Amino acid sequence: MSADKLLSFLGKESLEGMDFLDIGSGSGLHSLAAFDAKAKRIHSFDFDPLSVRTTAKLRQLAGDPPNWIVERGDVLDVDYLQRLGTWSLVYSWGVLHHTGAMWQAIENAAHKVAPGGLFFIALYSSNVVKPSAEFWLDVKRRYNAASPGKRRWMEYWYIWRFGLGRNPLQLPQLLKQIYDKKKGRGMSYMTDVRDWLGGWPMEFADDQAVVDFLKERFDFELVRMSTGEACTEFLFQSPNNPPSSRN
Ligand SMILES: C[S@@+](CC[C@H](N)C(=O)[O-])C[C@H]1O[C@@H](n2cnc3c(N)ncnc32)[C@H](O)[C@@H]1O
Repeated sequence: MSADKLLSFLGKESLEGMDFLDIGSGSGLHSLAAFDAKAKRIHSFDFDPLSVRTTAKLRQLAGDPPNWIVERGDVLDVDYLQRLGTWSLVYSWGVLHHTGAMWQAIENAAHKVAPGGLFFIALYSSNVVKPSAEFWLDVKRRYNAASPGKRRWMEYWYIWRFGLGRNPLQLPQLLKQIYDKKKGRGMSYMTDVRDWLGGWPMEFADDQAVVDFLKERFDFELVRMSTGEACTEFLFQSPNNPPSSRN
């Protein structure tokens, strides 16, 4: 995500004066976008040490700014989160559904939003996924349990059924997609295929259930939602006077 894309979804011209908590920073590109958007303070954490190293590398390339911390952390570790305090912008793109306890992770992340602050999350949506969330959960379970050889077959099956739509005449379009992806995101198609089939744990969320959960539990108001892609993006605002049930 570029700074422009981040700011456009937030409806802001810059992040000046805001602090940015990036939960599950992965490559670190979103934290870098927050840095470029002039966030006052950035804290990026990820469960996976390799992701921490990658984010730290981006921080280094940005000139080792003292207002940007990168470390290993777990969104399911309440003691760790407690130490982080609250943030005017809590951000988590494509992470909370990969924790194995999605609703708990959403709740833990929401607790980190300061009164009046923003909560920007993206979650795999059960409303748009085809053929169905259950279908993909079953495929992913089987892929993860399979031998290396069986996995290779499942990758070919995926390309035939979903890359080509069972139609060999679709090959030119698929090749263009592969080229565009490599050029745009720098990611190889096969890495993307393996990432999708192998990405586990994984859950899907119903868009409205997310909105209802955060309203009921935290009195968060939905500011904006972008749906139709694999992940639905949500922007919530926390009330200035949070309900007393929050801790
Ligand atoms: C699909 S990647 C998304 C990374 C990044 N947010 C992005 O959009 O590029 C999911 C990330 O969530 C991290 N993750 C999974 N479980 C986590 C947890 N319990 N606490 C923190 N990060 C976690 C993974 O290590 C991975 O980097």
